[in-house]
Amino acid sequence: MIDSKHSLDKLNKLLTINEKVSHMNDIDLLLDTILYEARRLINADAGSIFLKKVNSLEFSYVQNYTLANRDKNTNKHLYSSITIPISKKSIAGYVASTGNALLIDDVYKIESSKPYSFNSKFDLMSSYRTKSMLTIPIVINQTQVVGVLQVLNKKNEKEETCDFTEEDKKYVSIFANNCSTAIERAKMTRENVLRMIKMAELRDPKETGAHVNRVACYSIEIYDVWAKSRNINRQEIKKYKDTLRIAAMLHDVGKVAISDIILKKQMKLTKEEYLVMKSHVGHGKSLFNNSMSDFDIMAAEIAYNHHEKWDGTGYPNGIKGKDIPLSGRIVALADVYDALVSKRCYKEPWKDEDVLALLKKEAGGHFDPELVDIFLSIYDIVEAIREKHKDEED
Ligand code: C2E
Ligand code: SIN
Ligand code: SIN
Ligand code: FE
Ligand code: FE
Repeated sequence: MIDSKHSLDKLNKLLTINEKVSHMNDIDLLLDTILYEARRLINADAGSIFLKKVNSLEFSYVQNYTLANRDKNTNKHLYSSITIPISKKSIAGYVASTGNALLIDDVYKIESSKPYSFNSKFDLMSSYRTKSMLTIPIVINQTQVVGVLQVLNKKNEKEETCDFTEEDKKYVSIFANNCSTAIERAKMTRENVLRMIKMAELRDPKETGAHVNRVACYSIEIYDVWAKSRNINRQEIKKYKDTLRIAAMLHDVGKVAISDIILKKQMKLTKEEYLVMKSHVGHGKSLFNNSMSDFDIMAAEIAYNHHEKWDGTGYPNGIKGKDIPLSGRIVALADVYDALVSKRCYKEPWKDEDVLALLKKEAGGHFDPELVDIFLSIYDIVEAIREKHKDEED
């Protein structure tokens, strides 16, 4: 009796989470949420998600309650780019290649008869001690493994590490399965966005996929600190970041409407050319005119406002301060930072120290000073993002 009530509670909880997850658009934030909710569901201290690439698994999302309390900027670990081959030698590789879940009580005591073993490098890197582990394949279309969900160190009521149970395995598997539609949809959204960016890129080879990814990552990390300092609730932060990430990637799509002669000019633009160039903000805005969609609203907001300046000297309207929407203020900072540290057809990259000096000088001028402070306070994350999304050599 007690047991079935307990099961019903759990199933109810599962349904609520699935409902929450089904509204997310961005694949990164979706997977991050799936991991978070899976951990909460069965009280796991830590976990990660590996995403399947062609022949490898990419260590994509890491969450660790113990380390988060030890180390303030754990977000930087989200941008590590470790890959492991898909083979039966590693635990995640075994689960990805067989499609079967694994429940292990102590990863340091795996029988030598098993094909897989635990790679203690991950523990060594973070000075964390992994013991119990539950690893589950993420499957879409019934058969296609797209990734692996792994949770570590279940905690009991006394916060002691204990073993995962068969029941945990069942619930997390149901949860991961139910998320597959949301994952498929978010993957499709990402692909569509990348297609739009590719079209802009065909025109403007220096606005690379790497640049838009970096701008999107800096933007959500800046927002995250901004929102937490205002005690905005977790759910709202998630939702805003979900929209911001995709919308920030599209800040310059309006450049597709600018002629090659101007876009690819190796030298400084003339006054007239610059005037034409500035119209990319209006063209961008006009691509997102569905006022019923949160995504279109923010994408239009960013496309239109990312060249406004805090002191009112920007374009297209010269609005100032908090009249500029937050999303526009954030992307303005992220975009200029990235444009300066990168090579462009018309300029060489600047030295980091010169870029940082400019950001400080322009705090309260070009940029929202609060956002500059935030950006500088998370500079280790910024560097991890640059490392993860490097430009391809040309
Ligand atoms: P972008 O290359 O993505 O640059 C974005 C913004 O970063 C620029 O907005 C500007 O605020 C800042 N930025 C980039 N490079 C520099 C620099 O060397 N010095 C300084 N102080 N700031 C820099 P902005 O000026 O509104 O330009 C918008 C877009 O217009 C640029 O996007 C780029 O595509 C184009 N553009 C601007 N100036 C030139 C130019 O001299 N030659 C060419 N070919 N394109 C230019
Ligand atoms: C999350 O932050 O991942 C979900 C929000 C919540 O815990 O309510
Ligand atoms: C959202 O919360 O998803 C959109 C917020 C906004 O319109 O800026
Ligand atoms: Fe722009
Ligand atoms: Fe840009």
